[in-house]
Amino acid sequence: MLILAVESSCDECSAAVVRDGMTLAVCTTTQTVHRRFGGVVPELAGRSHLELVDAISRDAVAQSGQSLSAIDVIAATIGPGLVASLLVGAMYAQGLALATGKPFHAIHHVEAHLWSAELLAGELPLPFLVLLVSGGHTLLVEVSGLRRYRVLGTTLDDALGEAYDKVGKLVGFDFPAGASVDRAAAVGNPRAFDFPISKSDDSYDFSFSGLKTAVLYTQRAIPSAEMPNHTADLLASFQEAALESVAMKIRRALRRSNFRALVAAGGVAANSRLRVMLREISREAGISCVVPPPEYCMDNAAMVGYLAWKLRSQNVRVPSDTSVRPRWSLTDLAREECLP
Ligand code: KG4
Ligand code: ZN
Repeated sequence: MLILAVESSCDECSAAVVRDGMTLAVCTTTQTVHRRFGGVVPELAGRSHLELVDAISRDAVAQSGQSLSAIDVIAATIGPGLVASLLVGAMYAQGLALATGKPFHAIHHVEAHLWSAELLAGELPLPFLVLLVSGGHTLLVEVSGLRRYRVLGTTLDDALGEAYDKVGKLVGFDFPAGASVDRAAAVGNPRAFDFPISKSDDSYDFSFSGLKTAVLYTQRAIPSAEMPNHTADLLASFQEAALESVAMKIRRALRRSNFRALVAAGGVAANSRLRVMLREISREAGISCVVPPPEYCMDNAAMVGYLAWKLRSQNVRVPSDTSVRPRWSLTDLAREECLP
């Protein structure tokens, strides 16, 4: 089964060609138009997708060595995400499906992230625990099968990537700042500043806004002439507090259930310190750790094509209503009435 997949839920415009779960080609462009605004501007994201989506889809088909006529199914993310961004990719894919007489498969963006580690690692042992951390999501999800998901925890305020971006902005980094914070923190002292480790309660929920405020007040107290000497330490201390709160929740979840693998997804899963932490945690728990390479952690269409293949090959129905859904929870997805 040859699938052309499109992903446009936020600021990555991506298309992929996937054959029976194997990626033949994936083309992803991260929009740069948002850089000077310090965050994704929804209207600009939609316009940028409009300029990119056709060329990127054609590139993916060309790079796969296939032709459009050989494609069996066209898939696209229909939610959750930014409405203008979703509309462009989903309408493009549905239009193409209609014009070529091929079936369209609507995909839930978060569900695609949950299974993305299988793209390279092959089928994962069930149940597994997924940490999904990006600019828009911070979720800890138990996966015990297709459409069998339990959200253990989510963020009560900022997403983890958003916290990285905001703290990075404080020290003058361009948006998105996560990778720059990662690099700077790597040479800093994580114990230099004593930041609070949030949500040390019994829940699996996260909170990063208190930490972000603590970093802001600490930074304000440092004379600007001295700031360059403290930037790496400040970022390393922020990162340690943020990631330790995540690690604490993961350890607790692993202690309470018999997970067989720990999986990371989302842009922040590219973080070098987080990757080391996740490997340590899974080693302690005696389970496997699957952290895909950054290009499969961030938003990409290969995961959309992979999930479409997985769902179709296991006869899981597609949503009957394929209009875009900016808000769409995993719980609603499981409840959904679907068409064969
Ligand atoms: O999944 P993604 O590409 O897009 C969505 O947000 O949906 O994730 C982007 C987020 C941004 O907040 C970015 O700053 C963060 O991932 N990020 C990182 C790193 N690379 C990207 N955060 C920490 N360390 C990194 N190395
Ligand atoms: Zn995402």
